[in-house]
Amino acid sequence: MMDLSAKIKEIEEIIYQYLPETQDKQAEMVEAMNYSVKVGGKRLRPMLIQETAKLFSADVKDAEPFMAAIECIHTYSLVHDDLPAMDNDDFRRGQLTTHKKYGHAAGILAGDGLLNYAYEICADAVLCAKDTLKAAKAMKIIADCAGIFGMVGGQAVDVALTGKPLDEDTLEFIYVLKTGALIKASMVAGAIIGGADEEETAIIEKISVLIGRAFQIQDDILDITSTTEVLGKPVFSDAKNDKTTYVTLYGLNAAEKEVKRLTDEATELLMTLPGDKRFLCDLFEILVNRKK
Ligand code: IPE
Ligand code: IPE
Ligand code: MG
Ligand code: MG
Ligand code: MG
Repeated sequence: MMDLSAKIKEIEEIIYQYLPETQDKQAEMVEAMNYSVKVGGKRLRPMLIQETAKLFSADVKDAEPFMAAIECIHTYSLVHDDLPAMDNDDFRRGQLTTHKKYGHAAGILAGDGLLNYAYEICADAVLCAKDTLKAAKAMKIIADCAGIFGMVGGQAVDVALTGKPLDEDTLEFIYVLKTGALIKASMVAGAIIGGADEEETAIIEKISVLIGRAFQIQDDILDITSTTEVLGKPVFSDAKNDKTTYVTLYGLNAAEKEVKRLTDEATELLMTLPGDKRFLCDLFEILVNRKK
């Protein structure tokens, strides 16, 4: 199976170039922002932007600011997700969570800073782009998917219903939004920047929804089957918070089958697209078998 470590390094080299620097009085908060991003992670969302763009174009340099922006937004979502008012977790990406290391207020502000900074990067990208409309469209899908009709909306329902029994539809709603939305934004933004036509973009969107759902179900599985050392975040976080998950509703076996089924469907759709599909195909397979 493909080893992603070289790819992750390549992506980190790109996104780190966009991170903020300052010696000014807010330097500690900026340090907390950089800590949160640089501490690690799979870099899945920027990877999906770059590799989806590559299906449609050989020159994907224009994707780079959006790769940085989506990782900032994703990282902020994790920093806030770990706060005591939400999942209350102390470890993330193998290190202390941002609020544990820098304090609660700094954790909240580092998240705010990352979210806003993402749009500072995007706005610059739109202003500098060779193709302004493409860049603006990429920014719009990212903004739409990050907000109340995307990740934030999903997190809001997840938190509001914690400790309560959920029906299938509500669980589906939460997963599509809290996790699916940023994965959709990544693949669709990549397709747009790569120059995919409308029909191709629609197929990419379908693939992204399947992968997003599979990804969250696998995250639920790992919450009970992995170890904190491997996962880099506490296992049994969901049980601690009395969360209904795909695993609590349907069982581990059914969850594993569903991840596989969704991924197979996504891979079949991927095969209908042009370009060299090998990387994404292998990546989807790696995600099914991931241990962290
Ligand atoms: C964790 O995302 C939160 C979910 C949406 C399940 P990742 O598993 O992609 O976290 P990192 O970026 O690798 O740390
Ligand atoms: C969070 O889902 C998804 C986000 C938008 C952050 P989880 O709460 O299951 O993510 P982890 O397990 O803490 O990474
Ligand atoms: Mg959560
Ligand atoms: Mg959590
Ligand atoms: Mg989880």
